[in-house]
Amino acid sequence: MDMKILAIETSCDETGVCILEIDGTEDGSVDVSIIANKLASQTKNHRKHGGVFPTLAKRLHARNLPPLCYNVFKNVKMKPCKQIAESDRKQITRWLSRHPECADKLIDLIAEHGTPDVDAIAVTVGPGLAPALWVGCNVARSIALIADVPIVPVNHMAGHFLSALAPSTEDDHFTLADPDYPRIALLVSGGHTELIKQSTPHSFQKLGQTRDDAAGEAFDKIGRLLGLPYPAGPHVSKLAKQAHEQIRNSKLEIRNLFNLPRPMINSDNLDFSFAGLKTAARKQIEAAEPMSDKQKQAFAYELETTIVDVLIAKTKKALKQTEARSLLAGGGVVANPHLREQLEKIASENSCDLHICPLDLATDNAVMIGIAGWYAATDDDTEVVTPGRKTAIDVDDRLSL
Ligand code: KG4
Ligand code: ZN
Repeated sequence: MDMKILAIETSCDETGVCILEIDGTEDGSVDVSIIANKLASQTKNHRKHGGVFPTLAKRLHARNLPPLCYNVFKNVKMKPCKQIAESDRKQITRWLSRHPECADKLIDLIAEHGTPDVDAIAVTVGPGLAPALWVGCNVARSIALIADVPIVPVNHMAGHFLSALAPSTEDDHFTLADPDYPRIALLVSGGHTELIKQSTPHSFQKLGQTRDDAAGEAFDKIGRLLGLPYPAGPHVSKLAKQAHEQIRNSKLEIRNLFNLPRPMINSDNLDFSFAGLKTAARKQIEAAEPMSDKQKQAFAYELETTIVDVLIAKTKKALKQTEARSLLAGGGVVANPHLREQLEKIASENSCDLHICPLDLATDNAVMIGIAGWYAATDDDTEVVTPGRKTAIDVDDRLSL
């Protein structure tokens, strides 16, 4: 089914808006065209808090959405809006009353330019930060009311899962990979660490998840103890790479320098736990202070190895248990080169097809929400919401796949 979809993502600290045209052909392949795609990252705004601050995220999403929408809308055919009916204006004003940063701007934008000529609006309804999710949902239903198109509620994790099927996005037109089932996906980001099994296109099952902190969060929190800026993950992996080069040139002996526990690595389930790592890390950092550059590199190396060891051990276990034919990986932490290397190794050992999400779709973005929206809209069991004054779209900050 060929559909043009407007997608909106506001679950955490990235505001994303895009319009995709997706065509599912009879042979089962799914062709995606990115017509327009805009993203505003709030990372810098949250830096001084050392992590995402929900009420700030909410305000910034509201501030970002009208200009992002404008920049996306100007690339597509618009349906003019002769006049917003008084009752619709009242309704939208009520929905947007909690987001004063965007209410008037969005209404003015619609009044002046109309609404994009799309078949549906896909919006993230969870999991994520509830105040942040509400901004996207209220903006989506306001546009849907005027455009008179259905809303497709999207699970953010389905977006991360499906984005692993995208090849490189250097080209705006691509065909999603269709590897064999069952598929296992490791989804690792600042907010999530999950192992998901997909048995058929519309059936997902969560096999395991973190019981406390996410893997990216562990990189960020422990990296912060080393004095690294938020988000610390990329800095930790840079230091770890320097350590690796020095070990190779015999300039650094790291054995017994730092030794972190591998939480739950041998537990007989597929869950994770990274919160305890922080306590162990803090003790070892405090004992070593003031740390030299070499010590910091050695510590980063140990931290990266620890987190990747645990992620890989559990993924390996999931592959064996399910006899998976394909391994997928998504979320911001897939940028980590050591993790990528180890995923390649276990995929090859288990004769699995490996699909790692392209880096520009690994962090939160609207394209993955549009793709997941298309799958949801073409699934008979998904409830697509018809727009109207009582549009019953609801967020669920703990929504599970
Ligand atoms: O998917 P994402 O944007 O997170 C959420 O929105 O939840 O991913 C960001 C996370 C951060 O925790 C960041 O530190 C981590 O991914 N990250 C990395 C690397 N690049 C990003 N962690 C380890 N190594 C990296 N190279
Ligand atoms: Zn995410």
